[in-house]
Amino acid sequence: MHIPLFLLFLFISNSFAATDTLPEGSSLSVEKTTDQLLSSNGDFSAGFFQVGDNAFCFAVCFTRSKRPTVLWMANRDFPVNGRGSLLSLWKDGNLVLTDAGGTVIWTTATLSSSQLHLNLRNDGNLVLQTSKRTVVWQSFDSPTDTLLPTQKLTERASLVSSRSVTNHSSGFYKLYFDNDNVLRLLYKGPNLSSVYWPESWRLPIDIGRSTYNVTKTAVLDSIGGFSSSDGYSFRSTDYPKKVYRRLKMDPDGNLRLYSFNEKSEMWDMTWQIIKQPCTVHGICGANSMCSEDHVTGRTCYCLKGFRVKDPNDWTRGCVPEFDPSHLSCESGVAVGFLHLGHTELYGYDWNVTRVSSLKECQNLCLQLCDKCQGVQFKFNEFSTYNCYPKTMVFNGRDPPNFDGELYLKLPKYVLRSSAEPRKHSPMKCPAVLSQQLKTFYHEPEKNSTLSFLVWFSFGIGVLELSTVCLVWFFLFRTSKSPDTADQQRHLVSATGFQRFDYAELKTATKGFREEVGRGAGGVVYKGTLYDNRVAAIKRLSEATQGEAEFLAEISTIGMLNHMNLIDMWGYCVEGKHRLLVYEYMEHGSLADNLLANALDWKKRFNVALGTARGLAYLHEECLEWILHCDVKPQNILLDSDFQPKVADFGLSKLLNRDDRGSGNSNFSRIRGTRGYMAPEWVYNLRITSKVDVYSYGIVVLEMVSGRSPMEIQSVENSRGIDQWRLVTWAKEKIKHAPTREFWIEEIIDPKLEGEYEVSQVEILVKVALQCVQDDMNERPSMSQVVEMLLSQAR
Ligand SMILES: *[C@@H]1O[C@H](CO)[C@@H](O)[C@H](O)[C@H]1NC(C)=O
Ligand SMILES: *[C@@H]1O[C@H](CO)[C@@H](O)[C@H](O)[C@H]1NC(C)=O
Ligand SMILES: *[C@@H]1O[C@H](CO)[C@@H](O)[C@H](O)[C@H]1NC(C)=O
Ligand SMILES: *[C@@H]1O[C@H](CO)[C@@H](O)[C@H](O)[C@H]1NC(C)=O
Repeated sequence: MHIPLFLLFLFISNSFAATDTLPEGSSLSVEKTTDQLLSSNGDFSAGFFQVGDNAFCFAVCFTRSKRPTVLWMANRDFPVNGRGSLLSLWKDGNLVLTDAGGTVIWTTATLSSSQLHLNLRNDGNLVLQTSKRTVVWQSFDSPTDTLLPTQKLTERASLVSSRSVTNHSSGFYKLYFDNDNVLRLLYKGPNLSSVYWPESWRLPIDIGRSTYNVTKTAVLDSIGGFSSSDGYSFRSTDYPKKVYRRLKMDPDGNLRLYSFNEKSEMWDMTWQIIKQPCTVHGICGANSMCSEDHVTGRTCYCLKGFRVKDPNDWTRGCVPEFDPSHLSCESGVAVGFLHLGHTELYGYDWNVTRVSSLKECQNLCLQLCDKCQGVQFKFNEFSTYNCYPKTMVFNGRDPPNFDGELYLKLPKYVLRSSAEPRKHSPMKCPAVLSQQLKTFYHEPEKNSTLSFLVWFSFGIGVLELSTVCLVWFFLFRTSKSPDTADQQRHLVSATGFQRFDYAELKTATKGFREEVGRGAGGVVYKGTLYDNRVAAIKRLSEATQGEAEFLAEISTIGMLNHMNLIDMWGYCVEGKHRLLVYEYMEHGSLADNLLANALDWKKRFNVALGTARGLAYLHEECLEWILHCDVKPQNILLDSDFQPKVADFGLSKLLNRDDRGSGNSNFSRIRGTRGYMAPEWVYNLRITSKVDVYSYGIVVLEMVSGRSPMEIQSVENSRGIDQWRLVTWAKEKIKHAPTREFWIEEIIDPKLEGEYEVSQVEILVKVALQCVQDDMNERPSMSQVVEMLLSQAR
């Protein structure tokens, strides 16, 4: 008589996708994307989240955003394998995460005689509870880096940032209640730690904080108010609006409040605790300076005589280029001081001594030999000076209004060298590397489905194979029935970025029939996905990359999210096949639209601005350092509102990886398209983001003048310098024109029939000509371009 029971059990085990509850004695498997809990309102999911190649963490995510937003993780520092890992609720009431092979990675360490179940509540709280809803364990008690409305921050629960935007492991920044009951932010690096908020030189009482309330709780409400038992409180900029919110300890040391924007399906920042990003400790590591700039945000650079240790991770700081033992007194090497005005080093003072001259201060440092790295010298209220010999060069910053001076101790031969530190080198964003597990689980044996079923029949008793097969077949069929369509859609929104089967894409494109584009790397086809979304499917022709490499790159590209970048929905990697699935753009490419004269002046300016924004995001906004390398009108697509979206970014990384040198930017083969290529390609110079700036400049000239750089091509050139013709042409027109109005009339596209705004044409041409300077250092960055264009945007 156990057959119906069996059926019932299997049914429960296999319908997790639609439920918010995991019953006792069952588990979620990493291998099945349907194995996840979904809160009954559909806002939150709990399941395995991929953090790297074959690396997964069990996470609670917010599902309504374009990409799922991770809110909590069980095992952030110990990811598990993509095969054989399970989250199981044991019969004894213990919730356990096991890796392939059964090793316990994480557990709630709960025991209960009454029957428990795991429930994902509508507020995002994952709760282990009894049938009477008595809570035995809840994820809200052990947050990772995010606090949700109504969730309490307590003495035992602190928020710890992740290591970087993509590395979810525990990072260096922490929001916590200190022993004196005050809420603080702490930098806790591998070797050093210090509190950076509130400012340590101010007493709690002076900033309205109480040290006497031992309650130690802080809570965020859903309308944007935050209050803490020590008296600290704030309100979001959109207070009192009822929206989804989350408070997050970000990897850059700032605590930020985000509100969910239903329209864009993304999170908007509505409050942040640190207004000056360089006051966050440890952010640029040792022997470096942090510099603030309202355009580029924060920049780190090494002091003279030092070089960066890891350009992908500035928190590791800079290391001396000279022999550090040369600073000791025994070495006999002459040392001197480098003067740096308006420069502050926070902390690590040997002592504070009142001195009457700089010489006296420097002598103190010299006496301390290698224990002193430099001195901070500051005028004090007694009309003498304070001298702070520094035992370390850490937390350096250069606020323009700071009235102290820094004298850095260096060997004289370093001081004499002419090499100046590259001051405002654009900051390399924190490393975007996918985590990789060393322990790969070998291919499961052929009967994996069987063992999977065996697992589910655990506790039921005797197993009858034929019954299982029958039931399996039955379930498999029903899971495709129409009433589960809704559930499938949820799945898509929960995972955001999808892996497709080759067969599926072949069907979607009706056998790759309708070609809509052709370019570097492959042919693009129009297709309709199973959920009726119209997609552009690109089939890459050079499948030289291994699967793991391809997946690593694709996950980075998939993370990029900007209104001026084309949205990637998924990919397919199967044997030699490599396909990318993008949103389909109704209005086609900028090239088509220019040819058809479909763009009035307003649209053209808007395209120029949007494209600049998209590229600036690729280059600088701290997700990944991506060079496009093939900016041209064919790669700028227009959506139904004629908003531009840059396409094909990241392709330079997907194709032929071998072309990239081991260094950060040594491409050995010419890329890009003739007509839009920067001179660096031709002269074999270092390739930087400025190659995209150059191509962008050409595109802008083309949009303004209506002339393609290919059109004004000269006959002879095989060296690829033909594109300089369009530039020369424009420059000549400007040079010989008596007035501004005159050259504008000469340059502007006659197809516009005089309908344009003079000031906008002027700024576009000015920006474009700056962008196409031969010397890459003279070209502006894309974010500077955005700033310049915004000055004339309507
Ligand atoms: C921490 O100290 C150790 C030993 O002195 C050193 O090897 C390591 O580089 C330091 N780490 C950082 C991030 O400075
Ligand atoms: C301590 O903080 C809690 C929570 O904010 C508050 O309810 C309580 O009134 C405070 N107690 C005192 C003595 O201020
Ligand atoms: C600071 O340390 C130096 C070197 O040890 C010493 O000469 C000086 O007197 C100290 N200053 C004070 C104020 O203690
Ligand atoms: C992520 O960060 C952790 C902790 O710093 C580190 O051990 C790990 O190597 C990082 N992973 C990657 C892929 O960089």
